Amino acid sequence: MILPIYIYGHPVLRAANAEVTPDYPGLHDLINNLKETMYNSEGIGIAAPQVGVNTKVVYIDVDVLAEDMPELKDCRLTLINPVVTVDETAPIVSREEGCLSVPGIHENVRRHEKIHLHWTDENWQEHDQDIEGYLARVVQHECDHLDQKLFIDHISPIRKQLIRSKLNNMVKGNIRCDYRIKVAPRNRKR
Ligand code: NI
Repeated sequence: MILPIYIYGHPVLRAANAEVTPDYPGLHDLINNLKETMYNSEGIGIAAPQVGVNTKVVYIDVDVLAEDMPELKDCRLTLINPVVTVDETAPIVSREEGCLSVPGIHENVRRHEKIHLHWTDENWQEHDQDIEGYLARVVQHECDHLDQKLFIDHISPIRKQLIRSKLNNMVKGNIRCDYRIKVAPRNRKR
């Protein structure tokens, strides 16, 4: 099922996300909904809070980028309870990012080039892997969502100032989008 994507300003994106336990009801439905919703909006990664579910689940499919980055061929990951450890010795690289929850905004974000990732997959198998390059960036972006962070939290105050009015419009629900969205509830009039 394609779900609406929650937009910047909605409190669900800043709420704490719970660890998933094996008895979590509807885990496979949630994962399928994340996939459908992400493909429908042409994203390469999505986190459960972006569809209004505050749990630690992420889906990533960067295969679409394989023409430019062959190492991403067939690269699809379902991450349950992921834990990212950045490799502090690795270089920090700046590259443009966007986010389905912050439509129309693309900004350079500085991130570590290498990470270690521990996660559980949809079959409840645990994995440990060193990841680098563009995939490391996507994993960090998506796992940030699980820590209530958005990519625009990483940009400089000056850049933030430049996109301030666009962000304010998002909060007010003054945006257009090709996919179904859910904006922040309006403040009650007194
Ligand atoms: Ni995002």
